[in-house]
Amino acid sequence: MGRIEVGASGCGCERALVARVWARGVGCASKLGLMDPVFAVVTAAGSGTRLGYDMPKALVELDGVTLVQRAVRGMQQLSDIVGIVVTAPAQALSDFESIFEGDPAITVVPGGSVRQMSVYNGLVEIPVLARRLGYEVTGSTPVLIHDAARCLTPQRAISDVISALRDGCKAVIPALAVTDTQKIVASKSATSSGIEIEKVTGQVDRSELRAVQTPQGFHWETIMKAHDLGARRFKDTGVDATDDGALVEQMGQDVFLTKGSQMSMKITTKLDMVIAAELLRHDSLRADL
Ligand code: CTP
Ligand code: MG
Repeated sequence: MGRIEVGASGCGCERALVARVWARGVGCASKLGLMDPVFAVVTAAGSGTRLGYDMPKALVELDGVTLVQRAVRGMQQLSDIVGIVVTAPAQALSDFESIFEGDPAITVVPGGSVRQMSVYNGLVEIPVLARRLGYEVTGSTPVLIHDAARCLTPQRAISDVISALRDGCKAVIPALAVTDTQKIVASKSATSSGIEIEKVTGQVDRSELRAVQTPQGFHWETIMKAHDLGARRFKDTGVDATDDGALVEQMGQDVFLTKGSQMSMKITTKLDMVIAAELLRHDSLRADL
């Protein structure tokens, strides 16, 4: 991992530990003050259909602690993060409220029908929470958006995103290289005995691909503008984005990648729960991931 080089144009995320391959093109602009408070949205309003429990995924316990509590605690380990908005399924709002009752730095809001709208509901609550805590959100206030489903994200991955934001990058996403060879396929068909098949139409260069994770970080002005446009698009066309960085890309603005972590795996299926439980038992392994 190297540093993004500061080009002749004079811009660059000088301190961000990002290899050049992680961030093509121009770097980030000027640094922000080191003491800017950071706010976060933790998305936990999903139903967890693929996990298949009869409760929202974020309320499922991993070694006795719910996924949403683990995700929030993980963020709270960083003293820079002063306020967190948790999005919860509307029908389970009171369950989430009672989990975080008594912590003034956390607000629970109902999520939306898709993740993008849950994030939007969370974002609009940030200035309210900030004011209550005695802060004022400015255009460059760092805001992180994190999935409760990535509840084992290590501090290093979170603090790299914050550092890159403070170094002036307006949109920062942790990501990992892809390890499996990737194929492009045509639509599905079936063999004569009913075996589902897909025809390969091409191969992509794996070295150019990255699998993105959360927390994704943004300057307040950038992410609010991106989500305002995204919300309008969703209302008009029903098309949503599965990650927040995509909304910034759709505005034509630069998005930069920092190094993610295997510990930031998204718990989606029962197999992921087994892997996550096992990871919790191996402190030394976790430190390297
Ligand atoms: N999420 C959300 N609001 C939604 C949908 C998802 O806040 N309407 C959150 C989830 O709680 C999760 C994150 O977005 O933390 C990533 O979503 P995913 O892993 O797909 O979780 P679920 O949508 O709950 O799972 P599934 O798709 O299997 O139902
Ligand atoms: Mg989902």
